[in-house]
Amino acid sequence: MTTKTVLILGAKGMLGQALVEVFRDDARYSVIAWDREECDVTDTTMLSQAIAQLWPDIIINATAYNAVDACEESDEEYAKAKKLNTEVPGALARNAAQLQATFVHYSTDYVFDGERPTVNGRPAPGCCEQKCKGCQYRGPEETIPYRAYQEIDDPRPLSRYGQTKYEGEKQVAKNGSHYYIIRLSKLFGAPARAEGAKRSFFDVMREVGEKAQRDGTCVKAVDGEISCFTYAPDLAAETKTIIEDEEPRGIYHVVNDGPCTWYEAAKELYKILKMDVCVKPVPPSAFPRPAQRPSSSVLRTTKRAPLRDYRDALKEYLMKK
Ligand SMILES: NC(=O)c1ccc[n+]([C@@H]2O[C@H](COP(=O)([O-])OP(=O)(O)OC[C@H]3O[C@@H](n4cnc5c(N)ncnc54)[C@H](OP(=O)(O)O)[C@@H]3O)[C@@H](O)[C@H]2O)c1
Repeated sequence: MTTKTVLILGAKGMLGQALVEVFRDDARYSVIAWDREECDVTDTTMLSQAIAQLWPDIIINATAYNAVDACEESDEEYAKAKKLNTEVPGALARNAAQLQATFVHYSTDYVFDGERPTVNGRPAPGCCEQKCKGCQYRGPEETIPYRAYQEIDDPRPLSRYGQTKYEGEKQVAKNGSHYYIIRLSKLFGAPARAEGAKRSFFDVMREVGEKAQRDGTCVKAVDGEISCFTYAPDLAAETKTIIEDEEPRGIYHVVNDGPCTWYEAAKELYKILKMDVCVKPVPPSAFPRPAQRPSSSVLRTTKRAPLRDYRDALKEYLMKK
C-alpha cells in the first residue's frame, strides 16, 4: 500500500491535535506533526528548505495568530498577526505549488462585517424564560433575522485580525495551485498543548457556571454575535474528506449546524450538563472589547453537506472529558 505524507503545522494547537488524530488513525497516511519546537513557521526560508526536504503530498497549516483584541490594541501584535496570518500562508501556498502538493489553510467568519442582507429567519431564543429583570421577552412567535454568508460573498473585515486573515486568503489564492481555504468560526475542542493555551467558550463557561452555583449568582452572557460553533474533530474529519473527495480548489465554509448567540450556547451547555445555573442575556456593549466583532456571521456551505448540529458535537466533547 502506498502511503501519502501529510505535514501538519501547528500540530499541538486545538485544531492541529484533531488533525493529527484523524490522519494517524488511517494507515494510508504517514503523518509528520510539527509545532513551534520543530520549526518556527515565521522563518519562511528555513520552512521552505525543511518542506522541500520532506516533499509531502499534503501540507495543512493549522498555525494561528488568534489574539483578536491584542492585535487591535498593539502595533507590535498586529505585525505578528500579519506575519503569521498573511505572509506565512502565502509562502506555504507557494512551497506547496512548487512541490505539487495539496495545501490546506484555515480562515474565519471575522472576514465578514455582519451587514449581509437578511436571507433567513430563526426562532427567537426564548430570551430568559425566568423573566429576569431587564429582560425583554420577545415572544415565541417572533423570528430574529440572521445573515448567512456563502463562500462567494465579499469579505469586509471589521478588525485588524480579520484583515490579516483576509489578506492571508488572498495570498493563498495568488500563490497557490491545489489549495483549500476553509473558513470556520468559534472553534471548540481539547485546548492546545501549550502553557496558558486559550480554552474554548464551553470550557470557560462550565467553570463560570460552577462558580455561579457556589456563589448563588447569575452568569451573564452576550445575547448577540450570532454565528456557528465548529468542533475541532468534526472539522478535521471534514478536511480529510474534502481532500479525499478531490474537491475543486477554493474556499469552503465548514461549521457545525445551529447558529446561536453566546447566551443561547451557554444555556445549551448547562442544559446538557444538567446544571441549574441562572443565565442572564446581556448586549455586547456589556463586555466592551477593543476589536469590533460582526453582529451576525453565520457561515453557510454551498459546496458540501452541512455538519451535524453543534449540540450533538458538544455532548460528545463533554462525554470525552
Ligand atoms: N479558535 C477559534 O475560535 C478560531 C476561529 C476562527 C478561525 N480559526 C482558525 O483556525 C485555525 C486553527 O486555530 P486554533 O484555534 O487551533 O489555533 P491554536 O490553538 O492557537 O494553535 C495554533 C498552534 O500553532 C502554533 N504556532 C503559533 N505560532 C507558531 C510559529 N511561529 N511556528 C510554529 N508554530 C506556531 C501554536 O504554538 P504556541 O501555542 O506555542 O503559540 C499552536 O500550537 C487558525 O487558522 C485560526 O485562525 C480559529
